[in-house]
Formats: sequence, C-alpha cells, structure tokens
Amino acid sequence: MGKSTMKTQVAIIGGGPSGLLLAQLLHTKGIDSIVLERKTKDYVLRRIRAGVLEQGLVKMLEEAGCADRLHAEGFVHDGTQVSYGDEIFRIDFKARAGASVVVYGQTEVTRDLYAAREAAGGRIVFDVEDVVIHDADGTVPHITYRKGGDVCRIDCDFVAGCDGFHGVSRQTIPLAVRREYEKIYPFGWLGILSETPPVHHELIYATSKRGFALCSMRNDHLSRYYIQCSLSDSPGDWTDAAFWEELKRRIPVDMADSLVTGPSIEKSIAPLRSFVTEPMRWGRLFLCGDAAHIVPPTGAKGLNTAASDVYYLYQGLTAFYRDNTTDGIDTYSAKALGRVWKAERFSWWFSSLLHRYPDQSEFDLKMQIAELEFLRTNEAAQVAMAQNYVGLPY
Ligand code: APR
Ligand code: PHB
Repeated sequence: MGKSTMKTQVAIIGGGPSGLLLAQLLHTKGIDSIVLERKTKDYVLRRIRAGVLEQGLVKMLEEAGCADRLHAEGFVHDGTQVSYGDEIFRIDFKARAGASVVVYGQTEVTRDLYAAREAAGGRIVFDVEDVVIHDADGTVPHITYRKGGDVCRIDCDFVAGCDGFHGVSRQTIPLAVRREYEKIYPFGWLGILSETPPVHHELIYATSKRGFALCSMRNDHLSRYYIQCSLSDSPGDWTDAAFWEELKRRIPVDMADSLVTGPSIEKSIAPLRSFVTEPMRWGRLFLCGDAAHIVPPTGAKGLNTAASDVYYLYQGLTAFYRDNTTDGIDTYSAKALGRVWKAERFSWWFSSLLHRYPDQSEFDLKMQIAELEFLRTNEAAQVAMAQNYVGLPY
C-alpha cells in the first residue's frame, strides 16, 4: 500500500458547486487549493437540481471567469407567477426589487466550474474514500484519505468543508460545540424533466386544494415540473399520465389546457427539510453550503445560499493571505449565518404558504388564502417577497 503526501493552502472537501466555486475564486487570487471529491465527475454532473441564480452568484461566477455560457444560454427572469386555484398573479422582481434572476441549470453551473478548474490546472482528486480531517482545531490541520488502495495525506493551512449534508466535515465538529436546528416537512416533491416547451415563459408557483405544484424550465424545449407528494410515495408509484393529470389539477385551468405533456426523461422524489448547524467554523475548518444548511427547494435558495457562504470565506481567506489579517475568517461564521437564517426563513415562509399540510384546519387554510390575497394586492408584501427571491445583499 503506497503513501503520498501533498501540500496546499486550502484543502476543499467536496466537488459540488460550493467547493468548485471556492477553488476557482481562490485561484483568481493566487491561492492554491486541492478539491477532494468522493464520486466521479460524471456522477456529480448527473445530479438534477434547481436552476434559479441570484445576481450575487452570477457576479461571483463572472469574477471566477465562468459566466460566459451562463450569459449566452441562461434566461433572465424579471418576475414569477403565483397561483392559487384559478387565481394567478405576477410578482414583478424589477419593479419591486430592482433586480432579476437567471434561470440556468445548476448542473450547467457545475459543468462550467469543472471546465474552469481543468483549464487552470486545478487539482481535483475524484473517487476518494475515508476522508478524515485532523487537527482542525489546531493551527496545522491535515487531511487523510484513501485513493485506489493508497493512503494519502494533504498538509494545509485551512480546510473548507463543502461536502454537502451527508459529508464528513460537519461531523468533525464535536457535538459539544455544535448546535443543530431542523424542521422536516410532512411531504416531498415529485419532479420530472420532459423534453416539452414550458407551459409559461416564467415560473409558476401554484397551490390548490390538492397541494403545491411548480412549473419551471431549463430552456425552451426542456421543462421541469414538480408536484407535492406524500412522503410514502416513490417515483414508481406515478405513471407519467398520472403525474400530468395531477399537475393539471393544481394549476389554473387555462395553463392546464395549454400544457404540453410528454414522456419524463427523469423522475424523482426529494424530501423537504430546513436545517442549520452552528457555528460554521471550528478552528481551521469552515463549513460552506449544504454541509452547514439545507432549505426546502421552494425558494430556490440552496445554491444561492451556498454562494454567499463561499463569498464570505473567499473574502476572509484572501484577506488572510494578502493582508495577514484574520478579521474575515474570524467573522465568517456570524456573517454567513446572518444571511443563512434569512434564506431559511424565506424558504420556510414560502413553503408554508403554498403547501397543503396533513393536519391543516379550515382556519389554517383561510390563513393561507388571506396571505396569498395580501401578497396579490399589497405592494409592501410584494417588495418583501421579491427582495428575498432575487437575493438579499451579501
Ligand atoms: N469526501 C469527499 N467528497 C464528499 C464527501 C466526502 N466525505 N461527502 C460528500 N462529498 C461530495 C459529494 O459527492 C458532492 O459532490 O461533496 C459534494 C457536495 O456537493 P453538494 O451536495 O451539491 O453541496 P454544495 O456544493 O454545498 O451545493 C449546494 O447543491 O445540493 C445542492 O441543493 C443544494 O443547491 C444546493 C447546492
Ligand atoms: C427548478 O427549476 O428545478 C426549480 C426552480 C425553482 C425552485 C425549485 C426548483 O424554487
């Protein structure tokens, strides 16, 4: 069994969007990193995820030199539709928040980041096993892992835990130090991808007596639809015909009549969870993205909140190496959590507004309708929703 040792400034665990964006941004400042990824690149790129990018993330992808395809192929959305039953209204992001979002698949963001890393000669190790973070609470951390039978070591200054909800980084922080907050929602989202034109040029967040539905898209001939489903459902329980019939019953009738259906090319169920761990730093270990927090997909805040974590950590590490100051890394956790909790609140609020809960009373239903009516008719309510959806400032 061979042994190998590498050295870097920042060891990054996880080759998803968080890890790759951090690695690429650090590279623009001459800061070296090594990314350790448990899976293969193809596996990572097969993940289907939300595709709504806030301006903050777009700006960071521009700074990372990875935004060309995004600007060429992404779709700028100046608003979204919200419907309940046959009522439908628009939230005008430009008028209410002075900003827009870009619809561009998260898989494409990850693909662009891999391409940039490879073009820059970035070090990414795939198929790693048994990653262990050592001495994170000291001043000289190191990582060990196995790769193809070899035991490997990376000596580094800092470790960025970008390894998602099921990663090893969060677990490295002792339970005595960690505080975790969680809410499990009593339903899931059944999603399909179909090579059909989107039912509307903007997203439709729909609710009805039968539950939530979302009409989204990847491009003019690739649509993404979701319906709220039971946690006991599995994708095999739903034929394409049953999915389309249920979706049509949850969106306004004129949208249902114009919906173009087709065979699903992907069908999966995602559970919904709100989760935050505090703090997001322990010594020389910093948690970013899903490693530290999870949101229900309703507000499309998963990647966009990972992006602000990456921004704060990138700024802090740059200040450390450039100005020999620890101010940025010392305030990282508080700053990141400040924005994380606002994204958690918005995602929880939007989920609570649009989904049917098993134990809901008639009064609860009336409260949802009253809130939707308030959102439909009140400018201040629309400003608050729009500001959160397009992204609160970093
Ligand atoms: N060692 C190395 N890599 C690991 C380990 C480990 N022990 N555990 C997990 N990973 C890898 C996973 O294979 C995955 O590729 O870390 C990566 C984490 O990526 P994501 O789960 O995508 O998390 P993140 O990069 O923070 O992106 C957050 O992606 O998951 C969505 O909804 C989420 O939109 C959000 C965004
Ligand atoms: C998606 O296109 O997959 C999507 C869009 C918006 C969301 C969630 C998912 O809120």
